Amino acid sequence: MFLDGLSTVISVYLIAIICTLIELWRDFWDRREGKLDEGYILKTFKARESLKNINNGISLGESSYKTALITGGDGNIGKELSNLLLKLNFKVCSIGLHNSINSKNLFFFETDLSDEEQLKNTVRNVKREFSNGFDLVFLNAGVMLHPYKICKEHELHFKVNLLSQVFLINNLRSILNIKENRILFISSTTSRAGFFNENDINKEFWKRYLNGYKSYADSKMLVNIFVDQVDKELFPKSIFISNHPGIIPGPLYRHTNGLFRFAINHVLKYIARDSHTGALKLLELVSRDDLRSGAYYEDGVDASYVTESVSIKLRKKLYDKIMKEVEAY
Ligand SMILES: NC(=O)c1ccc[n+]([C@@H]2O[C@H](COP(=O)([O-])OP(=O)(O)OC[C@H]3O[C@@H](n4cnc5c(N)ncnc54)[C@H](OP(=O)(O)O)[C@@H]3O)[C@@H](O)[C@H]2O)c1
Repeated sequence: MFLDGLSTVISVYLIAIICTLIELWRDFWDRREGKLDEGYILKTFKARESLKNINNGISLGESSYKTALITGGDGNIGKELSNLLLKLNFKVCSIGLHNSINSKNLFFFETDLSDEEQLKNTVRNVKREFSNGFDLVFLNAGVMLHPYKICKEHELHFKVNLLSQVFLINNLRSILNIKENRILFISSTTSRAGFFNENDINKEFWKRYLNGYKSYADSKMLVNIFVDQVDKELFPKSIFISNHPGIIPGPLYRHTNGLFRFAINHVLKYIARDSHTGALKLLELVSRDDLRSGAYYEDGVDASYVTESVSIKLRKKLYDKIMKEVEAY
């Protein structure tokens, strides 16, 4: 047990360091070529809409309105993404703890995703206010390295990062099945350090906690597995993907140990990817014409082999376990 926990901590830091270096390298060249400019990405996004891949053959630009749902819309990446969606004239449904964006096109539903009653109430209100469904969904809310906390039978990372957001879309199915849409779960490259075996699937599954690193990595691996296994018959009009947005210093790292927090939020901050670039890259990805439903992307590159490192038999079992749990909410 102790060794499992320790090896996850070491893996998470190694993965994060390697990813940061790769992202620095990619961003350096992309920036030189102007591919990270806001104008360039928004123009690309609009041009892709004209390719009519979303919204049942009608370009979003042509439809009377376009709608996006975002969780954690007040977070570091979420706020940038919400502002970009507003710039693209989306009507934004923002679900989360706080909101600091003042716009007539942003509709905020205050919701603690660790509280099932609040979540159910939000589902009812969202169905009423957005009865014509959504074009884009960003499941972005997340917690990392949180001290052990149980919320009604579920450890907090599982509850917020996975179960409540699966509950949300599962219970919005009636409106999500109205028109073509794309559903993007924000995962993490640290899902590479998440692992399961058959013996893990027991009564205590949702309460397990070796340390915050393992719980975060496991929750993100389960996000990838959900996306990989999601039943197309339940969501016939949706393309599902998960994606690592980049290593982006900010409040997500608030529970990291002091030394790393300082290094990430006060040193790396000046060289690593920022939240604006992270949000632009998410928009670029979600609008691509060649998206493969079920895939896990790392910084825009298909890395589904990470999810596939878990056997197909176990992935199916884990998907069933997730669905069983959210149906019992
Ligand atoms: N930043 C990175 O390096 C990185 C790397 C890989 C993956 N990611 C993923 O990217 C996503 C966004 O990360 P970020 O860097 O923007 O982090 P962030 O600033 O901490 O944003 C996370 C958002 O989730 C919200 N949230 C947390 N607990 C919640 C709850 N119980 N109910 C409702 N909302 C809740 C937060 O609200 P409060 O701010 O009010 O707590 C915040 O708005 C996360 O899923 C994260 O795991 C980030």
